[in-house]
Amino acid sequence: MIRFEDVTKSFGKREILRGVNLEIEKGKTTVIFGVSGGGKSTIIKHMVGLLKPDSGVITVEGIRVDNADENTLREIRKKVGFLFQHGALFDSMNIRDNVAFPMMEHQKLTSKELEYKIDEKLTMVGLESKIVKSLYPEELSGGMRKRVGLARTLALEPEVILYDEPTSGLDPVTSDFITQMICRLRDEMGMTSVLISHDIAESFKAGDNYAMLFDGIIVEAGDKEAFQNSPNEVVQQFIHARSNGPIAFH
Ligand SMILES: Nc1ncnc2c1ncn2[C@@H]1O[C@H](COP(=O)(O)OP(=O)(O)O)[C@@H](O)[C@H]1O
Ligand SMILES: [Mg+2]
Repeated sequence: MIRFEDVTKSFGKREILRGVNLEIEKGKTTVIFGVSGGGKSTIIKHMVGLLKPDSGVITVEGIRVDNADENTLREIRKKVGFLFQHGALFDSMNIRDNVAFPMMEHQKLTSKELEYKIDEKLTMVGLESKIVKSLYPEELSGGMRKRVGLARTLALEPEVILYDEPTSGLDPVTSDFITQMICRLRDEMGMTSVLISHDIAESFKAGDNYAMLFDGIIVEAGDKEAFQNSPNEVVQQFIHARSNGPIAFH
C-alpha cells in the first residue's frame, strides 16, 4: 500500500533518515517503533507529502508521493488520513464544524448527507453527537478531543490512517478505546493503519507488522512473531524496555 525506497532526509546538517526502506501492507496495522526524536513523525509526514525527501522514492498504491504535484497530493490525502500527535482541532470552530471541515473541502454533499455523516463519524468514535456537536474544543477533555480528531480523520473515509502517538497523554480508558478502534477499523473495514506509539503493550495488541527505526534506518521489520523473536539487539532492548543498555530510550 505504501512503500519507501532508500529515503533520506536531513534537517540542516542533521541527517534524520539515512536510507529508509519500508513497506506498509494493505489491510494491516504496521507499528513503527523508535527512540524519541528518531524520525518516526518525519517518516509518516512523508507518506502524505507534508515533507519531501532529499532522495529516495515514496509511493502510495504505486503513485509517487515524493514528487507529486498539488492535485496528486490532494488525492493522496483523501486516501490517507492523518491523526496528528497534538490534536490539531480548530479552536475557533465547534465540533460539528471541525468534523465537517474536510468534507466541505473535498466532497460535494447535500446538507442532509453532511449532517448524517457528521453524526455517523462522531457516533463511531463513541461520542454523543447531539451533545458534543455544539461544543468547542476547549470545552472537551483531552480524550474527547482525540476522539473528535479521529472522527474528523474518518470523515473522508480514508483507506489508510496514520496515527502519530494517538494515546500519549490520554487516560487509560480512552487509550484502550483508541487501540480497540484501530483493530475494529481493520477487522470491519479492512483499514490499513500505521501506528507510532511509545506504549509497547498497546502496540502489541494493535499491530500486525512491526518496524524498528534506529539511527536513521529500519533495522528490523516483520510480523509480530518474527519481530518479537528478532535477534537484533536494538529490537530486544526496545521491546523489553531495558533502560540500562547502551541505547537510551524514552
Ligand atoms: N521541520 C523540521 N525542521 C527541523 N528539524 C526537524 C523538523 N521536523 C523534525 N525535526 C527534527 O528531526 C528529528 C526527528 O523528529 P521526529 O520525526 O519528530 O522524531 P520522532 O517522531 O521519532 O520523535 C528531531 O530531532 C526533530 O527536532
Ligand atoms: Mg513524533
